Amino acid sequence: MARSLQLFLSSLLIVVYICQAQPSFRPDALVLPVRKDVATLQYVTIVNQRTPLVPVNLVVHLGGQFLWVDCENNYVSSSYRPVRCRSAQCSLARSTSCGDCFNGPRPGCNNNTCGVFPDNPFSRTATSGELAEDVISTQSTDGSNPGRLVTVPRFIFSCAPTFLLTGLASGATGLAGLGRARIGFPSQFAAAFSFRRTFAVCLASSPSSNGIIIFGDGPYTLLPNIDASASLRFTPLFINPVSTAGTFSQGDPSDEYFIRVNSIVINQNPISINNTLLTIDSQGNGGTKISTVNPYTLLESSIYRAFSSAYIREAAARNISRVAAVAPFDVCFSSVNVASTRVGPAVPFIDLVLQGQNAVWTITGSNSMVQVNDNVLCLGFLDGGLNPRTSIVIGGYQLENNLVQFDLAASRLGFSNTLLGRQTTGSASALALRRRRLRTVTMKLVRFLMKLNNETVSIELKNGSVIHGTIIGVDISMNTHLKTVKLTLKGKNPVTMDHLSVRGNTIRYYILPDSLNLETLLVEETPRVKPKKPTAGRAVGRGRGRGRGRGRGRGR
Ligand SMILES: *[C@@H]1O[C@H](CO)[C@@H](O)[C@H](O)[C@H]1NC(C)=O
Ligand SMILES: *[C@@H]1O[C@H](CO)[C@@H](O)[C@H](O)[C@H]1NC(C)=O
Ligand SMILES: *[C@@H]1O[C@H](CO)[C@@H](O)[C@H](O)[C@H]1NC(C)=O
Ligand SMILES: *[C@@H]1O[C@H](CO)[C@@H](O)[C@H](O)[C@H]1NC(C)=O
Ligand SMILES: *[C@@H]1O[C@H](CO)[C@@H](O)[C@H](O)[C@H]1NC(C)=O
Repeated sequence: MARSLQLFLSSLLIVVYICQAQPSFRPDALVLPVRKDVATLQYVTIVNQRTPLVPVNLVVHLGGQFLWVDCENNYVSSSYRPVRCRSAQCSLARSTSCGDCFNGPRPGCNNNTCGVFPDNPFSRTATSGELAEDVISTQSTDGSNPGRLVTVPRFIFSCAPTFLLTGLASGATGLAGLGRARIGFPSQFAAAFSFRRTFAVCLASSPSSNGIIIFGDGPYTLLPNIDASASLRFTPLFINPVSTAGTFSQGDPSDEYFIRVNSIVINQNPISINNTLLTIDSQGNGGTKISTVNPYTLLESSIYRAFSSAYIREAAARNISRVAAVAPFDVCFSSVNVASTRVGPAVPFIDLVLQGQNAVWTITGSNSMVQVNDNVLCLGFLDGGLNPRTSIVIGGYQLENNLVQFDLAASRLGFSNTLLGRQTTGSASALALRRRRLRTVTMKLVRFLMKLNNETVSIELKNGSVIHGTIIGVDISMNTHLKTVKLTLKGKNPVTMDHLSVRGNTIRYYILPDSLNLETLLVEETPRVKPKKPTAGRAVGRGRGRGRGRGRGRGR
């Protein structure tokens, strides 16, 4: 994904010119980049707005009602228009409020305008703002490749005063509301380009790589040649009948995305939860929502207690020892007995069993454990308190590296589970998704392969050729030097050779001898190793997944 995003971004400038000449182009989907702000743990996107266009950094709020931006400071645009009272746009915004402004006219301050209530869920502040329209421009995509920049000439948003920015990531001048509201991003883009009211999010976990939001239907080719939409599981989206916004009128439903968690299972053991908490009652209390406002998942106190004690028990059973808490987390572990796997630290898995067939959202170590320092991993779930409005709020950390699709048209949520360990025949691309964290894993893998001297292995290349031979050496780029080689080109008879060197980047996978003691070889710099039963005949390498269930704790 990081790779395709770079592509998207680098083509942005070129595309501006092409598109201005061809205004009638109709895209299949639009794409916005999202990065994680390290200081606030907020997710920040960029759109181009105004005339002339300027890039505007916006904090992403999945359940936010609409776009709001600071109009008080430096809003210059020849295409700004206030939305008049009682206009169609005003009723689309479900507003009946009408205002005048005495120190204008300027963007955000005009007479006879429709008023709404932009809110900042991070500082829990709401204020009144003028509803307006202006040009918005974003990148289009066919789901695989970046397309031209496309323009919505009259995108509805709210002006806000500068003080409403308090608490937002540095550089952000507004909030992108992706909620269900008719003036939320999904609805406005769908209306402007006649595509389905659906969007998908894949958040990246490190600030060095971008995540994306795609509006419109898939395919979602996040990794070269892999349409991630093919692997989505689905669960219904529920509507909370009572608004969860900072300010609202009676009768307004919530614009946020609610799902139904039926149970939570840790390492195959369900935890006991008061079921009442899992459903949304007529006052809008209870249930489960998905939110990028919360960096970590919040669980109502009684759920949290059951959850964390079950987790501690399961971790202890694997000799993962608990250590002192590191704020904001309560439950932290020593990483000493925790091996690294492609899907994060080898810790007990958490399954959110959702409504619907096969609708199990598995949270692996990559999304449950937060590495707070070299030796400590903390469980990235927090106590949401007694009687919270919503019992479970699935937060940003748990969404990262998952493709999550909000299909408003079909009222369902699609989720991929982590893409980190994804089986990807034919390319090294699973590793392209999250380069930085995976670099560590890749290095471990290479260092492991470097220990395989004198082992006889089979190597399949990406072009389908198979090499059988004895390893003389593997270097840091995974270039592999072999002796006594039998090379079988795809569709040809085998040929034998004394020596052969294979470039690391042409390798699809290694097949290791069954006798190999992986548990011993995989341990790094850990002196006391109790060898375990050998794991037989696994494919290890770039590409083929060592999916869930692998990489239990290192023996000690
Ligand atoms: C709004 O109307 C009042 C008079 O009704 C006027 O004093 C004021 O300047 C107007 N404001 C704007 C922004 O046009
Ligand atoms: C379950 O939760 C509901 C709502 O908070 C509460 O009214 C009820 O007493 C709880 N039931 C039990 C058995 O704790
Ligand atoms: C955990 O450690 C104890 C003693 O420290 C040992 O007896 C036990 O076999 C270990 N269990 C696992 C799963 O490694
Ligand atoms: C590999 O095997 C050769 C001969 O069979 C032996 O001389 C050499 O020491 C071995 N190397 C390693 C690293 O085991
Ligand atoms: C596959 O790659 C290997 C090594 O790069 C090369 O020797 C071989 O000719 C290729 N096979 C085919 C069928 O292209």
